[in-house]
Amino acid sequence: MRVCTIVGARPQFIKAAVVSRELREVGEEVLVHTGQHYDEEMSDVFFDELGIPEPDYNLGVQSGPHGRQTAKMIAEIEPVVEEEDPDVMLLYGDTNSTLAGAIVGSKCDMAVAHVEAGLRSYNRDMPEEINRVLTDHASDCCFAPSESAVETLADEGITDGVYLTGDVMYDSVLAVRERVADSSSVLDDLGVSEDEFVLATVHRQSNTDDPENLEAILDALEDVSEPIVFPAHPRTVDRLEEYDLRERADEVFELVEPLGYLDFVRLMDAAERIVTDSGGVQKEAFFLETPCVTLREETEWVETVEADWNELVGTDTDAIRDALEREEWPDDTPNPYGDGEASRRIAEILQERVADVEPEAEV
Ligand code: UD1
Ligand code: UDP
Repeated sequence: MRVCTIVGARPQFIKAAVVSRELREVGEEVLVHTGQHYDEEMSDVFFDELGIPEPDYNLGVQSGPHGRQTAKMIAEIEPVVEEEDPDVMLLYGDTNSTLAGAIVGSKCDMAVAHVEAGLRSYNRDMPEEINRVLTDHASDCCFAPSESAVETLADEGITDGVYLTGDVMYDSVLAVRERVADSSSVLDDLGVSEDEFVLATVHRQSNTDDPENLEAILDALEDVSEPIVFPAHPRTVDRLEEYDLRERADEVFELVEPLGYLDFVRLMDAAERIVTDSGGVQKEAFFLETPCVTLREETEWVETVEADWNELVGTDTDAIRDALEREEWPDDTPNPYGDGEASRRIAEILQERVADVEPEAEV
């Protein structure tokens, strides 16, 4: 089996790390980095610390308007596929890199497989929502992280090639959580103590590209009495500077460079609570049983909200403040995202599909 994996953005490196390890046990992988993320701390750090093999191709596409960025990726991925002749195009999540891979894969002679299939926010203003819907509908194999994702796909008429695998980010957190508790020095480095700080991240287009929303978030965070650690996505730093909010931000929180995954997991685990608009961070907070306040009106990770570990507050300053002051959070955590074996399952299913054996795991 020959698999062409497309990655390009930070969360995709983290997801691909666990799956690549399993894939390479059973077949060959051609790893393609679109170059969507390119700063050392948004890309290289993950390859180094998670032992991801050097990409076979780095397409160097970098940033740009959505259409042009996606089009460049498509134009660069197609010749790679012609050269490498893979059996499967493997895609992760919902970025422009995912969509570009789905378009090339579905127009060439190979199976398209999507990890994190069946997630919906039902907010079509979100660029990621379009990427998710189109990718699922272009895919031959949909790897769903939860029962509700399987149901969502069925509601859209996608029932063939759907596999309930569990969530690969759960596999990843389980693999590193214990290790980083001993090995990471990030709490000392940042001068914070376990359970005595708030961890915040903001990078969603609807928040960063609207000065009112950014200010509303700053207003709410200003009232937090604990120290706030804010590892900032480069997009957020750019916008804070553009809107003359950088100085204010520096008064409200400790703005640091984006962190590597291992230190970031340690911070998520140790934080008293997390404030974020990230998809992945909401889920990881849930796995680590750290209460999460989400700066969005809706989420595709509905189980985290149903379990009451995640509160959706949008960018309403009072709602953010109230959620941050909330004392009571659940005592226990259900387990809707599998058993930590999603990556192994995905590799096995792909191998069976390519060998033309009906995989047993199909739902
Ligand atoms: C992208 C994904 C988003 C995902 C996020 C993960 C899309 C549409 N969005 O958003 O779903 O949650 O990645 O982090 O695919 N930049 C740098 N250096 C970098 C990367 C980006 O400076 O290495 C800056 C550039 O100014 C760029 C901006 O960040 O214009 C946005 O980058 P882009 O990759 O387009 O989108 P993200 O916001 O990172
Ligand atoms: N992450 C990280 N360092 C950081 C911020 C996030 O390693 O400074 C990890 C985080 O643990 C998660 C992933 O990056 O696995 C989430 O990426 P991001 O929030 O950029 O994207 P999203 O999940 O919203 O697509």
